[in-house]
Amino acid sequence: MRVSVIGCGYLGAVHAASMAQLGHNVVGIDVDAKKIALLSAGKTPFYEPGFAELLRECLAEGRLSFSTDMAAAVGADVHFLCVGTPQSADSLAADLRYVHAAMDSLGAALGDSPPTVVAGKSTVPVGTARALAEKLKLTSPNATLVWNPEFLREGFAVKDTIQPDRIVYGLAPGGEGQWAAGVLDQVYAPILARETPKIETDYETAELVKVSANSFLAMKISFINAIARVCDATGANVKDLAGAIGIDDRIGKKFLRAGIGFGGGCLPKDIRAFATRAAQLGGEDLAELLGQIDRINLGQRSWTVELVSRLVGPDLAGKTVGVLGAAFKPDTDDTRDSPALAIAAALVQRGAIVRIYDPAEAALLPAAGLGVEPTGSVAAAVGGAQAVLVLTEWAEFKELDPASLNGLVEGRTVIDGRNALDAQRWRAAGWDYHGIGTR
Ligand SMILES: NC(=O)c1ccc[n+]([C@@H]2O[C@H](COP(=O)([O-])OP(=O)(O)OC[C@H]3O[C@@H](n4cnc5c(N)ncnc54)[C@H](O)[C@@H]3O)[C@@H](O)[C@H]2O)c1
Repeated sequence: MRVSVIGCGYLGAVHAASMAQLGHNVVGIDVDAKKIALLSAGKTPFYEPGFAELLRECLAEGRLSFSTDMAAAVGADVHFLCVGTPQSADSLAADLRYVHAAMDSLGAALGDSPPTVVAGKSTVPVGTARALAEKLKLTSPNATLVWNPEFLREGFAVKDTIQPDRIVYGLAPGGEGQWAAGVLDQVYAPILARETPKIETDYETAELVKVSANSFLAMKISFINAIARVCDATGANVKDLAGAIGIDDRIGKKFLRAGIGFGGGCLPKDIRAFATRAAQLGGEDLAELLGQIDRINLGQRSWTVELVSRLVGPDLAGKTVGVLGAAFKPDTDDTRDSPALAIAAALVQRGAIVRIYDPAEAALLPAAGLGVEPTGSVAAAVGGAQAVLVLTEWAEFKELDPASLNGLVEGRTVIDGRNALDAQRWRAAGWDYHGIGTR
């Protein structure tokens, strides 16, 4: 089939390549000419495991191309809308201007061309899809909108796109919606053939499924982080606790790892946008709950800065801190709302000299602007440090031999911001180990 993907960021670029891998002829469209030039040349604008190989393979086979011209979308059976919905600059709400601009320019390009499906994948506040569907009809009466939210995880984006755990269609009422579902079924045929669960519903439910899923995940993380505070105060161990409660399959073990909290381009802005929308709709209790989840999460960052101050301060002026990790999680170079960078920047604000290293080189790009010194290795980041902070759970850090750092640092204090290190091993090598909510 012919497919267009509008917006080629973390979601769209991977979606475009994955749709090509499923056998479709795909054009990826973006307003960012630099990004389109990179992708066309088989170069990835961001780090995502397996994506570079997939991109080059699909380009070489001629099934994938990129353009800055929306006219290139005309004639596709399905247009996937994958543009960004970041937090607004002046509020906690989602900034929908990119979604509207993309829909306007797609609508203008399509005009009254033959029947086609527009599938919205961006994460949007409830009510957006219905408004976009009405707008689309004004310019393109033969185009039908489906809301088809995306659940991929950065670090697993290729696998999650080709083998999603579920597919959700928010459909227009009646036969038109069913027709559009049938077209999307053809695009996703190899995925559906594996009996991937598919939920067909209305626009509003599809929009809410996505933000509810992210809110629940955020709530689990903030829940265990709030418990970790009580563990710290009492000498209890949150890792043992999480393991014990997670055995109950009503609770589950996942997303119960205490640490410096969540970040990235999705969870923080999605819970804020959902809180804003819920409050507009009379859902004050939900808005309050989401606000509290956000506050607990941000509190983990300031708590970690205070821990550094307790251990090597209280005055941090002139103290040297080595930070390992800048990306918001491992296997990505995404630093949007990264807790690691926020903590590093806050330490600089307190007068500390902070050196940072991340295995994904691009994750270090924002560091200098925050007064944090980027380095090219673990050894360079921790050299002369009074404290070492492990803030992103990269395998390289988990596998570190603490003894190999002993001669490099000035003080053997390590804060394991992800509860990912082997505490016993670090202590055996002479380190003063501090996890989050662990003794
Ligand atoms: N990144 C993820 O892991 C993930 C997962 C699920 C859902 N989402 C959602 O997907 C959406 C995109 O997220 P992302 O992380 O890919 O964002 P991103 O910022 O990496 O990419 C957005 C892209 O849209 C492009 N764009 C903006 N306006 C455009 C226009 N008018 N026409 C064409 N292109 C335009 C931008 O240039 C950019 O390349 C968001 O709503 C996000 O919440 C993201």
